[in-house]
Amino acid sequence: MAEEPPKLSDFDDRFEDPPKDPLFHLDDDDPDRAKIFARKELLKVGHVPESARIVGRDEEIEAVAAELRPIVRGDPPNNVMIYGKTGTGKSLVARHVTERAGRAAESNGVSVGAVYVDCAQHNTQTRVARTVTRSLNETDRTNFDIPRAGIGSGEYYDYLWEILNAVYDSVIIILDEVDRLDDDDILMQLSRARESGKADCHLGVIAVSNKIEYRNRLNERVKSSLREEEFVFQPYDANQLREIMEHRRDAFYEGVLSGDVIPLTAAVAAQEHGDARKAIEILRHAGELAERDNVETVTDDHVRDAQEWAEVDRFEELLRGSTTQVKFILYSLALLTKENPRTDAFSTSLIYDRYKEIAQRIDASVLSEHRVYELLKEQAFLGVVESTRTGGGRGQGSYLEHRLVQDTGIVLKSVLRDSRLEDIA
Ligand SMILES: Nc1ncnc2c1ncn2[C@@H]1O[C@H](COP(=O)(O)OP(=O)(O)OP(=O)(O)O)[C@@H](O)[C@H]1O
Ligand SMILES: [Mg+2]
Repeated sequence: MAEEPPKLSDFDDRFEDPPKDPLFHLDDDDPDRAKIFARKELLKVGHVPESARIVGRDEEIEAVAAELRPIVRGDPPNNVMIYGKTGTGKSLVARHVTERAGRAAESNGVSVGAVYVDCAQHNTQTRVARTVTRSLNETDRTNFDIPRAGIGSGEYYDYLWEILNAVYDSVIIILDEVDRLDDDDILMQLSRARESGKADCHLGVIAVSNKIEYRNRLNERVKSSLREEEFVFQPYDANQLREIMEHRRDAFYEGVLSGDVIPLTAAVAAQEHGDARKAIEILRHAGELAERDNVETVTDDHVRDAQEWAEVDRFEELLRGSTTQVKFILYSLALLTKENPRTDAFSTSLIYDRYKEIAQRIDASVLSEHRVYELLKEQAFLGVVESTRTGGGRGQGSYLEHRLVQDTGIVLKSVLRDSRLEDIA
């Protein structure tokens, strides 16, 4: 005889008051914890702010919009290229303007499709073509599905032209981080679609890159067929960064941010790079530090600690992929710098002596002086170290001197995160 299947009610008591697992205890449950964040998601990296929170980019928004405006009338848009350093609002502006252009056109009876492609993730022509095609396809209009695999870029393009003809008057394609594409043929294909008679829908490309030199790398044929308008976004100044953060102040409970926190964060972020992402990250981290200290307000000290954390992080990023030996060398140079208040540049041989001593102390293999010299030059190429040739005195040949570009404290902190060096610190 078959057993009765258990009824949901049989389990009910289990769900009534589940005991809390202390391992997953949330601080917010604790009535004694200081309350810092009201809407932390506003400070998350992937957060796309609504229009009222976008500040300091009015001119850029207007300029990009002007290139897309023709689609509202059913005319072809211009292609756009946006350059600028990291965190200057390029991706944000590209998405924001595209969305608004789409809405304005739709309300004018023009059907617009839009796709955002992160070329850092989809870095081959086939991947981009697939993403664009699959996200624009509307099966009930085209009566076909696009295969996920098994076809090449050429076939995806064939589908794409069909979709463009069947479904849209205009399409805007954002190719973010376009310099990460391994091939610029896709730009050709898209910009020539109409003139080559493949699609009779208007197609606009917004290409975004934080590598200003990308344009010079572009093939002449691509350039002449793109005929794009170029915009360069400048880093934000302290006032703009302050405004951007002020518009997200409600990420915190009222009264949590002490008076200077936002201006101070803006000032440090402006000095370093004018990068809005970094500014927001520092602000968030300052809040997390206050939370960790279980205090009611975020203070200047939290901001300074958060900034240092960001710098150590950035420096580690720079060192990622470097060997432990390189860290020994940088550690030696950092120690020399710390011990010698009068100078910050040291000859290869001085650094080498120090390095040898450290490597021996932790039983690591010791590289030759020539190898250390080569590694220092490599670090100079990466911008970690600055190497200059010094004239030496009478009768002495010239030699290289090396100094750390980054603050010694930051370098020490970040190389010491390497477990082998921890023991000797
Ligand atoms: N003008 C602005 N107003 C409000 N928030 C902004 C503004 N500019 C940038 N931000 C915020 O800063 C972060 C970085 O912006 P965005 O991603 O647009 O930078 P980006 O120029 O594309 O940088 P990258 O080259 O590194 O991709 C985002 O979280 C964005 O919301
Ligand atoms: Mg971006």
